[in-house]
Amino acid sequence: MVITFLGTKGGTGTTTLAVNSAAELCRVSGQRVLVIDLKAGSGDVGLFLGLRSRYSLLDLLDQSGWLDPAVVPSLLSRHECGLDVLVAADDFARPSPADAPGIERVMELLRRAYDFIVIDAGSALSSCSATALHASDQVMLVANPDVPCLRNLQRLRDMVRLIGIPEERLRVVLNRTSDVEVLTVSQIEDALGRHIDHRFTSDYRTVAAALNTGVPVAWVRPSILKGEFERFARGLVGSQAGTPHA
Ligand SMILES: Nc1ncnc2c1ncn2[C@@H]1O[C@H](COP(=O)(O)OP(=O)(O)O)[C@@H](O)[C@H]1O
Ligand SMILES: [Mg+2]
Repeated sequence: MVITFLGTKGGTGTTTLAVNSAAELCRVSGQRVLVIDLKAGSGDVGLFLGLRSRYSLLDLLDQSGWLDPAVVPSLLSRHECGLDVLVAADDFARPSPADAPGIERVMELLRRAYDFIVIDAGSALSSCSATALHASDQVMLVANPDVPCLRNLQRLRDMVRLIGIPEERLRVVLNRTSDVEVLTVSQIEDALGRHIDHRFTSDYRTVAAALNTGVPVAWVRPSILKGEFERFARGLVGSQAGTPHA
């Protein structure tokens, strides 16, 4: 099953949600789980998990034509929580639009090696992220409860539908919900004309502590956020059986 997180703008928590959902999926499912950093640049996913890797998405892109899926996991970094990580290369120019067909090949390869693939697609709808969205069973649009984010969310929803992603694969995820003071969740749902599928509370102390030590949020201390990630992951495990890419 493939789950992609796409932010409605930078800083909404796309990487935080992708990494922690993947770690929690690994724990609750006991299955093979991979998180991929799809963004060009220095790579936050590796940073969030305190991992440095020799082998990056670009290596896989360049070798996907001849690699045996069975050997792929041995090339990737594994966090001590059991989660495999495909980090971004330190290259701000790639993946580029020319890599989109390669991303499709890589996804086909990885789907044979993992039960769950979680993608951090950043917050830009590029040809590479579009390819990842097409390969996804669920697309998590990540927003914060503020007006610019919600305006972007409407636009992003339209664009994602325009490139052919069916509405039933889209989920709206509100991160940092306890920051809701000006806008309530029901006001947000009214404005969007649809319900919010998942919510994650704001807990900067826990998120920052996890980030600083390179571990999932669940490892830091008992927290509301930890319970939310667990519920979220269990929901995905529950929906795994009915997905075409499972
Ligand atoms: N639920 C949350 N509660 C508190 N802080 C959060 C939460 N989610 C993310 N953050 C913080 O927000 C900032 C941006 O998060 P990040 O995951 O890097 O966003 P993005 O990938 O969308 O740019 C980070 O400092 C992170 O610690
Ligand atoms: Mg990010």
